Amino acid sequence: MGWQIAIDGPAGAGKSSVAKSIAKKLNLIYIDTGAMYRAAALKAINLGINLSNEDEYKFLYDTSIRFNEEGHVLLDGEDVSSLIRTVEVSNAASYASTFGLVRTRLVSEQQKIASDNNVIMDGRDIGTVVLKNANLKIFLTASLDERTRRRMKEREEKNQEVFSFEDTKKEIEARDYQDSHRAISPLTKADDAVEIDTSNLSIEDVINKIMSLVSERGYSMENLEQNLEQKQEELEKEEETKEVSETLAEETPVEEAPVEETAAEEPAEEAAEEAPVEDEEAPAEDAPSKAKYHELQVVIGTVVKIIPAKPETKRGDKVFPAKEEKALIELEDGTQGYLSVKDEAELAEGEELFDKYIEGDEVEVAIKRIFPDGGKMVFSTALVAKKHKLEALEDFVNSRPVIKVKVVKNVDVGLLTKYEEFSCLIPKKPKSLLSLTDEEIEGLIGKEIEVVPVRIDYSRIRIICNQTAAVQQKAKAEKKDFLASLAEGQVYEGTVKNIEKYGAFVDIGFGVEGLLHVSEIDHNRVFKVEKVLNVGDTVKVQIIKLEKDHIGLSRKSLIPNFFGDFVNANEVGKVVSGKVVDIRDAGLTVELAENVNGFLPKSEYSWDNDANINEEVKLDDTVEAKIIEIDVNKKRIILSKKQLTENPWEKLTVKVNDIVDVTVLKALDNGFKVQLGEVTGYLPKASIRSRAADSIQAGEVLKTKVRIFDAAKGRLVVNMNEAEERVERENYSKYMKAQDKISNTLGDYLKEKK
Ligand code: DC
Repeated sequence: MGWQIAIDGPAGAGKSSVAKSIAKKLNLIYIDTGAMYRAAALKAINLGINLSNEDEYKFLYDTSIRFNEEGHVLLDGEDVSSLIRTVEVSNAASYASTFGLVRTRLVSEQQKIASDNNVIMDGRDIGTVVLKNANLKIFLTASLDERTRRRMKEREEKNQEVFSFEDTKKEIEARDYQDSHRAISPLTKADDAVEIDTSNLSIEDVINKIMSLVSERGYSMENLEQNLEQKQEELEKEEETKEVSETLAEETPVEEAPVEETAAEEPAEEAAEEAPVEDEEAPAEDAPSKAKYHELQVVIGTVVKIIPAKPETKRGDKVFPAKEEKALIELEDGTQGYLSVKDEAELAEGEELFDKYIEGDEVEVAIKRIFPDGGKMVFSTALVAKKHKLEALEDFVNSRPVIKVKVVKNVDVGLLTKYEEFSCLIPKKPKSLLSLTDEEIEGLIGKEIEVVPVRIDYSRIRIICNQTAAVQQKAKAEKKDFLASLAEGQVYEGTVKNIEKYGAFVDIGFGVEGLLHVSEIDHNRVFKVEKVLNVGDTVKVQIIKLEKDHIGLSRKSLIPNFFGDFVNANEVGKVVSGKVVDIRDAGLTVELAENVNGFLPKSEYSWDNDANINEEVKLDDTVEAKIIEIDVNKKRIILSKKQLTENPWEKLTVKVNDIVDVTVLKALDNGFKVQLGEVTGYLPKASIRSRAADSIQAGEVLKTKVRIFDAAKGRLVVNMNEAEERVERENYSKYMKAQDKISNTLGDYLKEKK
């Protein structure tokens, strides 16, 4: 804990003027806590929240309230010092300060500042809440009238609207009431506070009084200086420990340094490419004298003296650690810092700073570290050397190569990486510069990724990189290579990207798309692409056409085409054989090849219309047949077995009325099946008169007359009666010729025959 002075009191008691003056005298940081409540209230008004709803003050968790070098209040970085002095804000601040959420948030900020610095703080609850252990607590009061006068004077000086004495008095009275009657941390004097009524005292009187209280508490400027120096040592030590662990983690202090960039700093043409990089860590605004510098800034300083190394010493119970040799360097404005051996770029073996620098030397140093509480800065010439090395990389960076960088750390502002000895940052805003998620980054710490350097950030001695661009460039190059490798006949597993009436666009890799025309989807005709393919489907395709901007794909070329292949190899008229796989009344199904069947209709089985295929053929029998029809659209093959032999009907030269000898094959219900030559015919029983039909046996040869002969239909019907009558008639005419008697009748002939 540093040296702390708490000043509380009602509005207009003179707290801020006194506190500012003491801060200067004792080199303390002055914190106007009232201004913090005012800034919070201003933001609440600007956001239009319901001021009486405590919950709506949650915006404060995302709000930055700080002080700059001149003690001006910065609300989210904007100087609002005069905006917070209006009556509206005063009233809103007094109101807002009654809420626990607001107080907790601001008190914690105030305590944080006090923990790192020597401070003088004024407000309402400093001695009672914020700095309960302050070295000195003052409670300043003044009469209401006096405070009213002071407030009016203050407004006049600040060119603000001045109200009447009565109105101002009422305003102050109301605030006094609210500040001291609120439930949480009301304005009260701490038990151990010294009360000073300033009504009749000048500001100098009050200051002197407080200064004497300060020295009474045993605190002198000397102590303060001693205290500061000790703090500096502690910070430096802390810094060293940090560096060691950073080195172990292969990080550099540069990467750890607060990043401070604003949109205005970015060159305009790169603004689109690179977002304004926000503060990774707040700049040390509470270090007034150093606020104009930032870490890693390169400045010119003058060597004041070389402080030799000192061994560890003891003074009383205090141990002062050993100190290494360092150069005290002063900047133009008097700000000082140390350059130690480890931060010096070019010391030869055994050489000391003492050998290299003499008082008055001008030296270019980079600010390696700024201590917010006023400790001396840490300078580095090694960082300057690094900056110069970066300058030599300018052309390289401008050529936008893809480089490999090592991932070091994921921070709010971006991804910290290293390229050789240089720190690189891939900013997170805009998002397009970094396309990795936090989870992905986690797995990449310590590993290399590819990036494209965008520019050198000399103010931070680092390279700004774009990782997305590297991914894109890589993808582009891969796509180019892939395109160059394509050839007709190649087969790819693609993804359907888009479906049109005429086909589907398929990504075959690296974003290269080809067209799978509807006619190339399947061997069967496809009427609607969506019936076979949908967006997102994986589909195996073959390149069948490769033109400049067109890649023609086929899916069907990769699907076996059994029917097509068979048809290509076998035409109508060809004799084929296959296995019988189905037998029905209508005919036989014959398997001709894998997945290809032919149909052999019953009518094509045999020239014999009465042939019974069920009796003649069994499943799995092999049959030989001739292809008599191929219907490609219906995928139908018709076979004929009977056409393997010559049509016996066509061989037969008989005519209707011819007398022919037929052989009886078998008896049927109303007649006989007979054979004539190679064909079969029918002899009805009704046409047999000369003998009993029952007496006719298979194998008998009968003389018959042809009644019907239709070779095309394969029909033959014969008649026995008519054949016999004809034979009789012919015999009679032969007899008559022999008798040479004209008078003889047919009766005479028959008598004689008997
Ligand atoms: O000191 P001031 O008038 O600038 O303070 C503005 C308001 O903030 C005041 O009405 C009370 C409140 N305040 C507080 O509650 N606690 C503090 N430590 C400081 C101010």
